Amino acid sequence: MIPPAIALVAPSALPRALWDSLNVTVGGRLAQGTPVSLPCFNTYDGQSYQRNGTACAAVESGYTSPSFRVENFGAYMQASLLFSRTSTSEQCLLDMSNPSNPQAWTNFNCSQGAIPPYYIEVRSAKDVIAAYAFSEATGVPLTIKNAGHDYKGRSSLKNSLALWTLNLKGISYSKTFVPEGCPRHLKYTAMTVGAGMGWADVYQYADANNFTAIGGYHQTIGASGGWIMGGGHSVLTPVFGLGVDRALEFKIVTPDGSVRTANECQNSDLYWALRGGGGGTFGVVLESSSLVEPRTIPLQVANLSFPIVGNNTHDWFKILINNTYKWGTEGWGGHIQGSSLINVTPLLSIDQAKESLQEVSDYVLSQNGTVVVETLPSWYAFFTKYVLAAEAPVGTEYLLGTRLMPSSLFQTQTGMEQMYNAILNILPYAYPYIVVGTPFLYNHTAGTTSVTPAWYNSFWHISARTSFLFNSTLAAKVNAYQLGNQLVQNFYNISPDSGAYFNEGLVYEPNYQQSYWGPNYDRLLSIKKKYDPLGLLDCWQCGEFPYMFIQPLVVDSELMFQLGSRVNLTRGILAGLK
Ligand SMILES: Cc1cc2nc3c(=O)[nH]c(=O)nc-3n(C[C@H](O)[C@H](O)[C@H](O)COP(=O)(O)OP(=O)(O)OC[C@H]3O[C@@H](n4cnc5c(N)ncnc54)[C@H](O)[C@@H]3O)c2cc1C
Ligand SMILES: *[C@@H]1O[C@H](CO)[C@@H](O)[C@H](O)[C@H]1NC(C)=O
Ligand SMILES: *[C@@H]1O[C@H](CO)[C@@H](O)[C@H](O)[C@H]1NC(C)=O
Ligand SMILES: *[C@@H]1O[C@H](CO)[C@@H](O)[C@H](O)[C@H]1NC(C)=O
Ligand SMILES: *[C@@H]1O[C@H](CO)[C@@H](O)[C@H](O)[C@H]1NC(C)=O
Ligand SMILES: *[C@@H]1O[C@H](CO)[C@@H](O)[C@H](O)[C@H]1NC(C)=O
Ligand SMILES: *[C@@H]1O[C@H](CO)[C@@H](O)[C@H](O)[C@H]1NC(C)=O
Ligand SMILES: *[C@@H]1O[C@H](CO)[C@@H](O)[C@H](O)[C@H]1NC(C)=O
Ligand SMILES: *[C@@H]1O[C@H](CO)[C@@H](O)[C@H](O)[C@H]1NC(C)=O
Ligand SMILES: *[C@@H]1O[C@H](CO)[C@@H](O)[C@H](O)[C@H]1NC(C)=O
Ligand SMILES: *[C@@H]1O[C@H](CO)[C@@H](O)[C@H](O)[C@H]1NC(C)=O
Repeated sequence: MIPPAIALVAPSALPRALWDSLNVTVGGRLAQGTPVSLPCFNTYDGQSYQRNGTACAAVESGYTSPSFRVENFGAYMQASLLFSRTSTSEQCLLDMSNPSNPQAWTNFNCSQGAIPPYYIEVRSAKDVIAAYAFSEATGVPLTIKNAGHDYKGRSSLKNSLALWTLNLKGISYSKTFVPEGCPRHLKYTAMTVGAGMGWADVYQYADANNFTAIGGYHQTIGASGGWIMGGGHSVLTPVFGLGVDRALEFKIVTPDGSVRTANECQNSDLYWALRGGGGGTFGVVLESSSLVEPRTIPLQVANLSFPIVGNNTHDWFKILINNTYKWGTEGWGGHIQGSSLINVTPLLSIDQAKESLQEVSDYVLSQNGTVVVETLPSWYAFFTKYVLAAEAPVGTEYLLGTRLMPSSLFQTQTGMEQMYNAILNILPYAYPYIVVGTPFLYNHTAGTTSVTPAWYNSFWHISARTSFLFNSTLAAKVNAYQLGNQLVQNFYNISPDSGAYFNEGLVYEPNYQQSYWGPNYDRLLSIKKKYDPLGLLDCWQCGEFPYMFIQPLVVDSELMFQLGSRVNLTRGILAGLK
């Protein structure tokens, strides 16, 4: 446990002059963070507020749009996490199913929740260094936000000063990339991407520059932020590895104020920690460099789906489970949601792909479904046709939970039955969301990344989603969190030695140190202590609210703040209370 070197202080307790002086240091790029939906409301943190219908209309129309959310500091992709995590009654939500439903702002109030009341729009290392000095001097904790995609709400933190890295754009490409300080023969074909670049922009650049970037299944996820530091799966991961496998170098400003380059030749402990230890922890990453692949990788693409009638998903899951090992050896990766599947492989011909999917295609057709198996010439062609077309919803109150399902389960009759029964158990509550995105065929060298090693011998990262609405009662919210944990427990029971995906995990993951990092946790913790001895970088599930798992939603962190109880608790994501 890290003894906190300084007491925590709420931003509102600081004299205005201190903020003004910080603002001058960072070139006027200090701003106040407010919930994106605030203009719709008549009250704000218990005070009356001047609603602005024009501004509200803009929020309503952009409410579920990733591009609208990503550009607004006070908007995060999962709207719920900002509030339910901090207190019983706080929220500032519109109706995600109909954002112009006036009930959301007539019957409910707007609260600040976990949105940092101040943020710096980071343009360079200097801004970050100024923030570290400020935090150390004042006791205001720091948090980092990039594209705001985090499912655990780790890019927000009540009463913190945020460093917003979204505007660190920029991308370049080199066929002769040598990590800084490495011998010249260590040459890679690599791209270097600013922290705030979204995947859609990276893919477009890659296509225009004759290479393929291996990345996430959504346009606005930051390519060089939380995605890559927490694991980073792609539907091409089965063949080409995780984001952490492909990361060659990070430029980072560590909390001691140093700008460091971390790669296999220098700061290699930090390099290892950044390859899976998670974002928001070891410093502010300005850019990262990763391996790339040639542009032209023809992909066989399968798009299967059928209408759900009665229990007709049962046989579907049976067939999927039965074929998973074979598909794993053939390089298939993709997503299975309910009764639909979109999978790709770069390793088969079109005829081999059709044959590989014969059994499941027959079943889908027998259920009046549709089957398309087609060849697309490149990742970019796939991304524009499939990923942009079926964009994952945002602005939602979704709660995810995940488990990595060991490949051994798919190799025995007993294992397959266990898998099937676990899915049957959750079906009354949710359809599993199955990401076939583990580096099963990738030639990983053990010990090179700090994610849980479970990634490397699993086939599925399976999740179950629960949710609530703007008008859910406290009991319903608590139930959504608890149900999420119960659903994932079914997968945990049949894979007790496995792990979970940090970036898409339960907000209240039990024993999270083991789930996310397994045997790597202790070394990660020592690296955290080395680079952030004062614990300036703070975030959710840093060990600071360990009892919230038992009693979610009933702890008011504002109150804890005032009581100073966190002063006795550890800071920093890896600093679990043990
Ligand atoms: C719609 C949607 C689709 C998704 N699809 C995928 C997918 O296909 N594959 C996948 O692996 N994951 C996916 N995810 C999960 C995603 O990887 C995580 O949400 C990830 O944390 C996003 O990183 P971010 O930088 O975009 O988000 P943020 O929420 O801004 O940041 C995430 C974490 O990283 C930290 N961080 C951000 N920037 C920096 C920085 N510059 N330096 C240091 N720390 C930083 C933050 O403090 C926070 O802890 C998806 C999420 C959503 C909402
Ligand atoms: C910081 O300075 C800029 C430019 O003077 C100003 O627009 C902005 O409102 C200031 N931020 C805060 C939080 O006062
Ligand atoms: C909204 O705030 C008002 C005034 O503070 C309070 O009376 C009311 O109960 C609040 N409503 C909700 C739904 O919390
Ligand atoms: C209301 O919002 C609009 C659009 O953001 C803005 O132009 C206008 O100045 C705001 N009106 C008031 C009274 O603040
Ligand atoms: C694109 O890259 C491939 C190899 O990756 C190369 O064979 C081809 O000549 C390149 N094309 C262009 C136009 O540069
Ligand atoms: C569907 O399956 C469930 C659980 O296996 C079972 O209880 C139910 O009776 C089945 N429904 C139908 C219509 O067969
Ligand atoms: C899987 O499918 C094969 C081929 O159809 C069959 O022989 C085997 O019994 C099936 N196994 C299970 C568990 O259904
Ligand atoms: C498929 O559609 C036909 C014609 O509408 C219908 O008779 C049949 O019951 C459907 N089958 C299934 C499995 O839904
Ligand atoms: C995939 O199939 C579904 C169901 O037929 C269809 O609605 C969807 O448009 C298809 N996706 C693409 C990108 O063709
Ligand atoms: C992994 O390495 C083996 C042996 O070097 C090679 O045959 C195989 O193609 C590699 N696999 C991938 C996915 O690169
Ligand atoms: C919440 O709002 C939705 C409309 O989006 C409505 O259908 C539902 O009945 C409401 N629930 C409660 C508990 O008021």
